[in-house]
Amino acid sequence: MLELTDFSSRLIAWQRIHGRHDLPWQNTRDAYRIWLSEIMLQQTQVSTVIPYYARFLERFPTVTALADAPIDDVMALWAGLGYYSRARNLHRCAQVVAYEHGGAFPRTVDELAELPGIGRSTAAAVASFAFAARATILDGNVKRVLARVFGVAGFPGEKKVESAMWKLAESLLPDAANKEEVTAYTQGLMDLGATLCVRGKPDCARCPFASDCVANVEGRQRELPAARPKKAVPTRKTWMLVLRDGDSILLEKRPPTGIWGGLWSLPEASDEAALVQVAHSHGGDERLQRLASFSHTFTHFKLDIEPRLGEARGTPRELSDAQTVWAPLARIDSYGVPAPVRKLIDALTGSLI
Ligand code: ADE
Repeated sequence: MLELTDFSSRLIAWQRIHGRHDLPWQNTRDAYRIWLSEIMLQQTQVSTVIPYYARFLERFPTVTALADAPIDDVMALWAGLGYYSRARNLHRCAQVVAYEHGGAFPRTVDELAELPGIGRSTAAAVASFAFAARATILDGNVKRVLARVFGVAGFPGEKKVESAMWKLAESLLPDAANKEEVTAYTQGLMDLGATLCVRGKPDCARCPFASDCVANVEGRQRELPAARPKKAVPTRKTWMLVLRDGDSILLEKRPPTGIWGGLWSLPEASDEAALVQVAHSHGGDERLQRLASFSHTFTHFKLDIEPRLGEARGTPRELSDAQTVWAPLARIDSYGVPAPVRKLIDALTGSLI
């Protein structure tokens, strides 16, 4: 891992000149105002939050005013901000602070993190902004900054990677001696992630870590942080029969539920021998011709399809079973056939007719 002994001093120096200093929740040590902003800013942009924040403070100037308000009033003022569990937790948290902590927010990260709706990173933000506590934040923006500057491998949402990042973030904290430094440092982490080290096109030329940053030096900004690993989807395999009699092929109506529910599709079996039986029961001969296999991916699984072509001769056109038809190839359009099956039939049609 990259050794960067002056990470915090460089970040603080950068924040003082290039960071944000006039957001409505800055330049105060009022824990209520800071807490309210941090909850609103979870998963929500600064520009969206600003008018909501102003309306909330006007209507609920203190934590006790918020605690005593009917939940409906809180929800009404929150309407439009999204993630409504935040508003319910906000109200519960205000009641705990007002009535179990005497109206004052607790001062340590551990106590703050016990309150409804306050996770470890939000607790650290409140503690560092309101009480100058030496505590590190680690939200999505900070994970991106650390992954890039220090070249942290792995998806940051994964437990192991996240624990390593908490350790790294804690090791980077400045000394607690100077209260203003702790605040500028926390704000600097947020500002760097929000203004320069953004997800899409980071502005590395203006970054105070440009010459050391692993992502910048190695040109790996797009690879860091690593993306969420794709979930492996289970695979199923099926054999499909294209049974031809003259200019018609056999279609079967699928059961109403499950994949392709109610559509017309090719007869299927779970192995080759069973498919030969299906062909045989509809007048097909025993030899099936192998066609190119293909796959279709559904939301929850991948279907590997082994198509086989068979010939039947002079089978009756009128089948007693309403779930099975001999469909003329020229009229395949009038049957609802799933797209991948339709593709297979279309690819064959040229050679069949
Ligand atoms: N996002 C989360 N907390 C923030 C803060 N205090 N200032 C700007 N953006 C933030």
